[in-house]
Amino acid sequence: MAYYQNPIDVTTLPSWKALSEHRLEMQRFSMREAFATDEKRFDKYSFTTSGLFLDYSKNLINDQTLSLLYSLARESGLEQAIHALLEGEFVNSSEHRPALHTALRRPLGDRLPVNGQDIMPEVHRVIGQMTDIVGRIHTNQWRGYNDKTITDVVNIGIGGSFLGPQLVSEALLPFTQNGVRCHYLANIDGSEFREVTAKLNVETTLFIISSKTFGTLETLKNAQAARAWYLARGGTEEKLYRHFIAVTSNIKAAVEFGIREKNVFPMWDWVGGRYSLWSAIGLPTALAIGMSNFKELLSGGYAMDQHFRNAPFEENMPVLLAMLGVWYANFWGAQTHAFLPYDHYLRNFVKHLQQLDMESNGKSVRQDGTPVSTATGPVIWGGVGCNGQHAYHQLLHQGSLMIPSDFIVPVTSYNPVADHHQWLYANCLSQSQAMMLGKTREEAEAELRAKGMSEDEVQRLAAHKVIPGNRPSNTLVVERIDPRRLGALVALYEHKVFVQSVIWGINAFDQWGVELGKELGKTVYQQMTGHDQLPADDASTQGLIDYFRSRHRG
Ligand code: F6P
Repeated sequence: MAYYQNPIDVTTLPSWKALSEHRLEMQRFSMREAFATDEKRFDKYSFTTSGLFLDYSKNLINDQTLSLLYSLARESGLEQAIHALLEGEFVNSSEHRPALHTALRRPLGDRLPVNGQDIMPEVHRVIGQMTDIVGRIHTNQWRGYNDKTITDVVNIGIGGSFLGPQLVSEALLPFTQNGVRCHYLANIDGSEFREVTAKLNVETTLFIISSKTFGTLETLKNAQAARAWYLARGGTEEKLYRHFIAVTSNIKAAVEFGIREKNVFPMWDWVGGRYSLWSAIGLPTALAIGMSNFKELLSGGYAMDQHFRNAPFEENMPVLLAMLGVWYANFWGAQTHAFLPYDHYLRNFVKHLQQLDMESNGKSVRQDGTPVSTATGPVIWGGVGCNGQHAYHQLLHQGSLMIPSDFIVPVTSYNPVADHHQWLYANCLSQSQAMMLGKTREEAEAELRAKGMSEDEVQRLAAHKVIPGNRPSNTLVVERIDPRRLGALVALYEHKVFVQSVIWGINAFDQWGVELGKELGKTVYQQMTGHDQLPADDASTQGLIDYFRSRHRG
């Protein structure tokens, strides 16, 4: 099997050097001036693909910046890397496998050999299996232990087996069909378990245990608690199969848990957890929105894949967003990136992007094990607007850090209330405008004088009113959030993250960093519960164990 690895240290490339020099020239670049002197800037720096309109004109860029960034992408071997990803080469070098979430979105009839075997028939067989169960639940053929209709689905899963499906089922709430409600149980926190189950009727609830490995502590503990909850409320062992199904690549473990084998939906080691919402891990979503909408989601993702594969870099949205991120992270020292969706239904998008981006690109060694020579993935944060405006946007406008931001907003709301949506849209635009324009000292002073203030007062206050401006942002506009456009939007960010990993030479598809905490968690648990008499490896942890043991009640 072809094995993809980018052997190039990006900082040694000619275009890296050229970009470093160009950065110095851009020190005094003013977006205000750029807009004032080039009336075509917005037209030049905006385009549409797959139902997404991107305005990237409010960035610290000119034609030369872009040309150098695209050269960097080419010199980094991005063309070959995109081909390697989409054609199933082993891009996940530390786990010796491909990363084929894109295969899940490919149409029937496509062929894609992995290790000599075409995986597409199996992908479409599982889509058929999903279609079957969704149909049976929606038409009341699948019922609870005492023949009542299933009305509530609880996804028990964490990380990628939670965040992606939750994002999609919330974002597509207006597309809910047959009154099936989705709930998510992720954390190993009894309070979450209580809150979720309090809303449920055991007779009408289906639990989906979603775990690629079927070995994740939080998920298994919640699955056991859910089974006990079901049995304690009248559910029977004999009919348990009507209330518990699983999605996993570890079919044996699911069957051992008590799930009927034909109710286990497979997934594959070539799908990473954070890229798995397109697989049967998306089953809760499919149950909520129906299979035809779920297929629309897949086709939106596929449209973005085709764009990513075929569009020249100059018009390639994931490549462009990724290279802008490289520009700010590596040449302007930006350490964080904000996502600011102006849409209630996208309120959890940031959580999904946090896992997608930070678990993928939070790495410090290159694929060949050598240390990286430049900054890699930034901290991803943000939240829904306008709420953020009344909380943390102050720092975006006047803080000492440069924080590139992505605004995301639909043109049409599913729930028009008076002129709320016009105001929401206007606020989104005015935030990026304020970040770009800022307010000069002269403007601040003039404003204060216009209010009739004394010159002393004007001079005392003016500095506080100055907004530096020149802060970069992208704005993504969608006509409405529907399955197809949402699919394209999620795939856009998946590919953006991949492009950056190629530039930095890191593996976007492993996550060894989370393993140490899991291992230590088991040891600390043993020490806390007295199963392990050895003291903790450090005094702080031991002290915290003692504190717990001396005060814990129940
Ligand atoms: O701990 C991190 C992680 O491995 C994620 O990558 C993954 O999405 C999550 O845990 C859940 O894993 P699983 O689906 O195997 O339960």
